[in-house]
Amino acid sequence: MSTPEQRLCVATIRRTGTVAHLRLGPSDGRPLGSFTPGSHILIQTPASVNAYSLTGPHVDPGAYEISVQRHRDRGGSAWLHQLSVGHTVSVSGPVSGFAPVLSAAHHLFIVGGIGVTPILSHVRAAVTGSRSFEVIDAHRPGPAAHRDELTRLCGSRLTTVTDRGALLQRLTERLADQPLGTIAYLCGPAEMMAAVRALADRLGWPAERIRSEAFTGVALAPGRPFRVRLARSRRRVAVAAGVSLLEALETAGIAVPHRCRQGVCGECRVGVLAGRPEHRDLYLTESERASGDALMACVSRCLDDELELAL
Ligand code: FES
Repeated sequence: MSTPEQRLCVATIRRTGTVAHLRLGPSDGRPLGSFTPGSHILIQTPASVNAYSLTGPHVDPGAYEISVQRHRDRGGSAWLHQLSVGHTVSVSGPVSGFAPVLSAAHHLFIVGGIGVTPILSHVRAAVTGSRSFEVIDAHRPGPAAHRDELTRLCGSRLTTVTDRGALLQRLTERLADQPLGTIAYLCGPAEMMAAVRALADRLGWPAERIRSEAFTGVALAPGRPFRVRLARSRRRVAVAAGVSLLEALETAGIAVPHRCRQGVCGECRVGVLAGRPEHRDLYLTESERASGDALMACVSRCLDDELELAL
């Protein structure tokens, strides 16, 4: 099920290096909905539907604020970078898939580069709610988007590192020293997130204590081959490495509604009857992922050799 679309108007644009910060306000004066920290909106660009984390205040926002890193090879970001004040864009959401765990005793936020965007609203909410938290922030030396605000919000709870060695050393110290009530939240480049997960695993962290948000529009790893059994049609379909489940179903003549092909819109949701999905989307909530009874066919794969789907 997709969320209703609305037209929002670009109210302001400012830039930090290759990042454009856009405030999108209502063009009809109607108030915008509040959102859960860590939420994103979906923006329709000429090439695709892309997800962008909301960086501004989450309660009664006067505008939805996003920060977009310019990438030459991503049509969505280049298109957003050429917008001017007054342009309107088609937006759906906000969508929450990276919510805070309010029962956590301590929140450990781990940020890489532009991965700061979904963490900002988490940190703001943690400050407002007087929650225990700390931030480990890795970015290249020099000015980086939102770091002034992050420093203001965090004070001494912020550790900044500018190289991989320092990041791994700090992470090793902090991950080894966390009580069971700590939840880690992770957003950054794929290789950084994989390194953090591997380190946490070595230090005995259960996977459910780590929440993460992946970037959209980034090429996903090809994954390994798997098979699907289709319960209604009693057919079997093989999904090769580097081919999405959605593509494999389409090739077999099985139509699945879809829209973004990036795991952000929710249109290609398919019920899972058996097997463990490997979720790679930004749409399902943590509890939906944990229940394992649905996946997004455009990006998700299988942790086992076979899945049974409600198709
Ligand atoms: S087509 Fe949008 S989530 Fe799969």
